[in-house]
Amino acid sequence: MTKTIQTTWLLYCRPGFEADCAQETLRQARQQKPVIAEQEAVQTDSGYVTLNLNDQTLRYSELVFARQLIQLQLVLETLPERDRLTPILEAIAMLPGKFGALWLEVPDTNDGKTLSAFTRRFQPLLEDALREQARLEDNPREQRLHLFFPDKSTVLIGTSDPHNSAPWHMGMLRQHMPSEAPSRSTLKLAEAIEVFMDKSEQSRLLRQGMTAVDLGAAPGGWTWQLVKRGLRVTAVDNGPMKGTMAKHPLVQHLRQDGFKFAPARAVDWLVCDMVEKPAKVAKLIGDWFIAGYARQAIFNLKLPMKQRINAVDAALSEIKSRLDEEGINYRMLAKQLYHDREEITVFLVRTKR
Ligand SMILES: C[S@@+](CC[C@H](N)C(=O)[O-])C[C@H]1O[C@@H](n2cnc3c(N)ncnc32)[C@H](O)[C@@H]1O
Repeated sequence: MTKTIQTTWLLYCRPGFEADCAQETLRQARQQKPVIAEQEAVQTDSGYVTLNLNDQTLRYSELVFARQLIQLQLVLETLPERDRLTPILEAIAMLPGKFGALWLEVPDTNDGKTLSAFTRRFQPLLEDALREQARLEDNPREQRLHLFFPDKSTVLIGTSDPHNSAPWHMGMLRQHMPSEAPSRSTLKLAEAIEVFMDKSEQSRLLRQGMTAVDLGAAPGGWTWQLVKRGLRVTAVDNGPMKGTMAKHPLVQHLRQDGFKFAPARAVDWLVCDMVEKPAKVAKLIGDWFIAGYARQAIFNLKLPMKQRINAVDAALSEIKSRLDEEGINYRMLAKQLYHDREEITVFLVRTKR
């Protein structure tokens, strides 16, 4: 019943993006050395991917489509319905070390959701047993133990490195919808701020009195996030701003084309959520940074139906090569966030060296 697997990775992703997730992960692996033991298992709309590699190390922060990065240790198939605990404990006993957290997880699909009631019931049983054996303690620096149930009778058991993975259960940072925000898009910027910046960077880079331009701002969900933090926002959109963002003293609404707008004075932040081709948005972002109009940006790249990886690569490379040519130092991170659909979110910040 037990199969031992070595150097196999389990990655979670948004359902429908499994091929993209596998493709970019393999590419990252190949950049280090030739992949010999390549074997990928991609099931469309499953919300996860497994990849068998030789000894490549993967870097979670540089993967756009991976929500989580787990080193798969064991797979148990045909778990008995009456007693899943015994075989799972026996399997975990084969793994070395202690665990700083125990996460029972399911695919982010409708089928997966039906398993959540089971994992909620099962979690305390397993947790108590592992604590009794002194295998589990609350320690954010220790490896995490993941039990991923694609269905009720199968479990993929793996571990994640807290320094090379997402610190959120199922790799998803859900946000609560603020009742005063004018659109659900607000959740994307709220999540991006949490994902790309730690708390100290957030308080350093998003301070009261700072200035921002929001391109494609209407009805105002992203502007709302910035205003909430005390920033003064120029909201550019031909459409109407709504709710509290329609007449807020910190908001100036300009009905202009976001691709033609240039600020009279440099601002701290550019945010951009215009629905446009990634190449066009990438050019705009490059223009803004080269002109020195903004020091920080968060923007969306809407993905085409096909060749998504190529579109993302081309857009990000365009920005990188232009900034490199100009000798501008920067940090750029890109992720398909939990609240992103057919899009990814990019964080770009100018750095000193
Ligand atoms: C996805 S919505 C933005 C939602 C907004 N971020 C929020 O949180 O409420 C895209 C917006 O981009 C605007 N837009 C598209 N092309 C534009 C352009 N060339 N100039 C200005 N706004 C544009 C649209 O009018 C639309 O309001």
